[in-house]
Amino acid sequence: MSEVFEFTGENLAQAKDFVARYPEGRQRSAVMPLLDLAQRQNGGWLPDGAVGTIAEMLDMAPIRVLEVATFYSMYKRSPVGKHQINVCTTTPCWLRGSDEVVGACRNALGVGIGETTRDGEFTLGEVECLGACVNAPVVQVDDDYYEDVDARSMADIIEALKRGTRPPPGSQTGRQTSAPEGGPLTLTGEAAKPAGKKASKKDDAVEGSEAEASEAEATDAEAGEAVEPETVETEAVEIELETEVEAVETETEATETEATETEATETEATDLEAGETEAVEADDDEAAGDKLRPEKE
Ligand code: FES
Repeated sequence: MSEVFEFTGENLAQAKDFVARYPEGRQRSAVMPLLDLAQRQNGGWLPDGAVGTIAEMLDMAPIRVLEVATFYSMYKRSPVGKHQINVCTTTPCWLRGSDEVVGACRNALGVGIGETTRDGEFTLGEVECLGACVNAPVVQVDDDYYEDVDARSMADIIEALKRGTRPPPGSQTGRQTSAPEGGPLTLTGEAAKPAGKKASKKDDAVEGSEAEASEAEATDAEAGEAVEPETVETEAVEIELETEVEAVETETEATETEATETEATETEATDLEAGETEAVEADDDEAAGDKLRPEKE
């Protein structure tokens, strides 16, 4: 680590502010923002001297700082061009055409991956997922993300940078943030239709369903008003019928009670008569027995 690196006065104040944001004893956590600060000050890459200076500031072994600087693709360890074009080629972006985007960069810049143009303006890189897969393919140009890129739009971006202008970052197809292609769709509101876009069959179907639902509601309301008097009459008839049925049931119960009482009375009378008859017959038997018994001498 031979080169000497020192933060400028302004950047040194910024570095101390970064360190002060972490609790006592945790200052090493500031290693990443300090590496980024040093890289920006040094034209986009980190010399050994910067690694040593940061290690000293954070009381870390230089190898620990170097491990961080070589792990993340955002830190560069060798000189780079004024603009860094990093194409994501991880699976989602690859499936969406990152190979064609890399090809467009090669053609427009005349360099391969990891190389810098002769004029020192551009360095072409290949990186892993940039965390914006929803709008794949994605290309990072310096601090900006260009999304939904294809070969043509990538060539246009590079041409604009060569002219000294920076095209607007974000989706290159007009997609709103990460909404579906063709505009946002919701379940509760009307789907937004991009200007000039004809309503799709799906939109028509949704609108048709809503109109049918409204008509059905209106019909139900009308029907409700029309049948209301009939409903009242029907309820009155039902109440009358219930009352009559209850009266009949009460009469039936009374009749059954009377019948039961009558039966009981008749049974008692019959039993009584039978008892008396048996008693008379017993007397007769006793009299007959007396006659048959021989008289005592
Ligand atoms: S795979 Fe390219 S941004 Fe995630």
